[in-house]
Order: sequence, then C-alpha cells, then structure tokens
Amino acid sequence: MADTKVFAVANQKGGVGKSTSTYCIGAGLAAKGKRVLLIDADPQGDLSKMLGLRQPNQLNMTLSSVMDAVVSNRELTRHPEIRHHKEGFDFIPANRSLSAVEIGLVNVMSRETVLREYLNTVKSDYDYVLMDCRPSLGMLVINALSAADYVLVPVQADYLAAEDMTELVNTVQSIRRQINPGLQIGGVFLTMVSETTFRREVAESVRNQFGKRIPVLRTSIPATVRLAEISTADKSIFLHDPRGKAAQAYENLVKEVLNIGTKERVRPADLGR
Ligand SMILES: Nc1ncnc2c1ncn2[C@@H]1O[C@H](COP(=O)(O)OP(=O)(O)OP(=O)(O)O)[C@@H](O)[C@H]1O
Ligand SMILES: [Mg+2]
Repeated sequence: MADTKVFAVANQKGGVGKSTSTYCIGAGLAAKGKRVLLIDADPQGDLSKMLGLRQPNQLNMTLSSVMDAVVSNRELTRHPEIRHHKEGFDFIPANRSLSAVEIGLVNVMSRETVLREYLNTVKSDYDYVLMDCRPSLGMLVINALSAADYVLVPVQADYLAAEDMTELVNTVQSIRRQINPGLQIGGVFLTMVSETTFRREVAESVRNQFGKRIPVLRTSIPATVRLAEISTADKSIFLHDPRGKAAQAYENLVKEVLNIGTKERVRPADLGR
C-alpha cells in the first residue's frame, strides 16, 4: 500500500497565508521528486487562481463535482477533475459551487467523510496530498480534517489569537475522538514575519499557551511582496524569485514537512530554540 501523507492546511482566520503556503509547499515537494496532489477546498478558488485558472467559476470539473458524485453514489472511474501543473504536481480546482455542496452536506449521511471517501479513490497515486482549507471551521474544513493525517497551521506573526488556536485545537481533538483517530497537528508555522516582528516571542507564546499539544516548526516565512506577487505570476516562489529569502524559507519549510511523521523528527519541545 502506498504510504501517502495527507495534510490539511487550515486556520479559520482569513488571510494568514494558507493558499500561498499550500502552493509553495506543494511545488517544493514536487521539486524534490515527490508525487503531489493539491486540493483547493475553498469555494473562493484562490488556489485555483494562483495555479493559473483565473476564472474558476467557469469550470465544470472541480472538487464539488466529485463530492457531489460521492454523495449521490455515482462511481468515479476517470478523473477529469485532476489537472496537471507545469511545476510537476497535480491539483483539483474549486469554485463557488463548493459552497452549495457544503450547505447540502447537512442532509447527507456520513457528511463529515465525503472528501475522505473521494480521496481514498485517488490518493494511492501520490506521496503527498495537501488540502487548502477555507477560513472557517465549517463542514468543508471538518471534511478536510477527517481526511487528513496532519494539520499544518500557518499563523500570521503579528496576530496570534489564542482563542482561535484553542478553537482549532478543540476541533482537531473532537475530530480525532469521533471520526479520525490518526489526525495530528503536524505543526504551526509563522507567516508574514516582518523585520519588526518578535518572531521568537510569538513562537514562545504559542509554545507557552499550548505546550506539548502543538509542535511549532522552526521555519518562519518572511513578509515580502515577492510572495504577494505569486498570486498573479503563475509561478511558485521557487520560479518567481528563486534566490530570495522567501524561496529559502519555503525550501526549509518543505524539509520540515518531509520530516513530519518520520521517526527522526525532533520533539516539539526541542524546536525553535
Ligand atoms: N509571506 C507573505 N508576505 C506577504 N504577502 C503574503 C505572504 N503570504 C501571503 N501573502 C499575501 O497575503 C494575502 C493572503 O494570503 P493567502 O491567500 O495565501 O492567505 P489565506 O490564508 O489562504 O487567505 P484566506 O483565508 O482568504 O483563504 C494574499 O494576497 C497573498 O498574496
Ligand atoms: Mg486561501
């Protein structure tokens, strides 16, 4: 059996770098020869736009089509929803029809595991699957968490809301208890770190407040216009500004992601010193 690792990139706070990080981590893993599938699980379709599909609402085959198929027990044989990106990974786009699917899930049996059921039909072709979540803790995010092995949590460096983190951790715990016992927090990492951010203090504060429950990754992502530019550049940071500090940071983050779930992994308490 393939040893696929499935990650949900989640934080219910908006604009913290989920989509940007999903793209850059995915491109980085692909550059290392991994077979990667990125899933846009946000009806805003931001990841799909970044990946070159500027008008996701005009697409027919998206994540909502396949979730719909699972809900109505239609068998999926070919997979036209999966597209190939020139940077060497596959992806599934999303658009606003995913909102309707999310609302419709209320009346569905096993409504928390529709995405997992779909993923089980395709994930053996991949080493890594990364799901870009919408900024909420609603049913789509619950579906992503139910399908995931690990959650990656980007946190905006200047804004650490303890309440948000507590809510996210509680959601992860209740999903672990009720639906997906294998789910773990792969790590929290800081994004949009400016010259003036006291990175160490924010990292320390995450660690103090959540203790051993949440590993804080060593890498933090700098705030730079070069990263803001990739949403329209049709390139990940590795092609857009390969020698810049953001490419270096995502390269380091990719190495940490590769370590998640391996025995060599440093214990959370030892990180970030
Ligand atoms: N490190 C960074 N430095 C500067 N700008 C960034 C950085 N990371 C992301 N951005 C920009 O910040 C905005 C929010 O980023 P992104 O869309 O990745 O966040 P998100 O968490 O996916 O947002 P949402 O919650 O709306 O889905 C985008 O305009 C993006 O280009
Ligand atoms: Mg996003």
